[in-house]
Amino acid sequence: MNIQENISLKNYNTFGISVNAKRFISVDSVYELQQLLKIEKDIFLISGGSNMLLTNNIDKLVVHIDIKGISIDREDDSFVYLTVNAGENWHEFVLYCISQNYGGIENLSLIPGLVGTCPIQNIGAYGVEVKDVITKVEGLEIETSKFVTFSNEDCQFGYRNSIFKNSHKGKIILTSVCFKLTKKSHHLNTSYGAIETELVSKNITKPTLKNVSDAVIEIRKSKLPDPKKIGNSGSFFKNPVISKKQFVELQKENPTIPNYPVNETEVKVPAGWLVEQSGFKGKRFGDAGIHEKQALVLVNYGNASGKEIYQLAKKIRETVFKNFEISLEIEVNVIL
Ligand code: EPU
Repeated sequence: MNIQENISLKNYNTFGISVNAKRFISVDSVYELQQLLKIEKDIFLISGGSNMLLTNNIDKLVVHIDIKGISIDREDDSFVYLTVNAGENWHEFVLYCISQNYGGIENLSLIPGLVGTCPIQNIGAYGVEVKDVITKVEGLEIETSKFVTFSNEDCQFGYRNSIFKNSHKGKIILTSVCFKLTKKSHHLNTSYGAIETELVSKNITKPTLKNVSDAVIEIRKSKLPDPKKIGNSGSFFKNPVISKKQFVELQKENPTIPNYPVNETEVKVPAGWLVEQSGFKGKRFGDAGIHEKQALVLVNYGNASGKEIYQLAKKIRETVFKNFEISLEIEVNVIL
């Protein structure tokens, strides 16, 4: 086992925050991870680092999950069942599926991060959530080093939420995710306005998986900053759900407020709109800022500290609350 000392985590988190790990190990097999857990349980996990904000040096042993591999468990005429190890890059997995004509995750193209973390916040975009295609999730229980399996139902998936963010937080290391994808009669989801517009602009009337993926990539590139160029963690806040009563009042003052009905009594409103209306879009405070094309995304222009980004998030929350009486919930995992 190769434990290194004083390693910078700047390249291990998409926000590009410079904090150090006192001790660091990269693990490339489940066996190695199991051996490690037998001697050390007080660990800090990092995989793609695409949904976390680090605000301090890490004293615990930092374990980087780098377990690779994609295998086909079985297939029939209509479906393929795959097991994908946690360390596979999410977008490369999406591209692999498209090249094999496996459908179901094309709308989730270009989402940063690794396969092993996709169930944790149930990644979603353009009308699709990863829960729609996950059959089960496998991992090791930190306390016992034993294998554990969670069915789709066990995961208790919700909007940017799962059991791994709640009762099982910090207790399980996800090692692989199993997917069921279509081989024919793909259910293409192009209902999201921007996808349709993108396809129409290219005169595509009978889109393929690749056409949809390409459209999503175009839309994301036009709106969301590339973490390789500007540090960020995607949407920093969740889109809040408010009561219909509060929404009706809000709409009187703001007739153009975008909204998505959740049920009879609740409405979801875009946090990006609330942040933009509060005057933050495109603003920069030192090296911490709010992206100019998407107010939901906080960015690190270079050398912002995690604390500075967190302070900015708090300021945004306070202002949005003052203006709209809505509490924004942070979606990114802030490590204080
Ligand atoms: N809006 C603004 N100003 C902004 C941003 C958005 O007014 O700066 C308005 C837009 O005009 C639109 C509405 O908000 O009417 C929704 O915007 P958009 O379609 O861009 O989606 P979003 O609600 O901002 C969510 C996800 C994204 C996902 C997109 C597309 C959350 C927290 N975010 O964003 O996910 O890509 O929908 O499905 O649910 C992520 O989680 O990291 C992420 C990027």
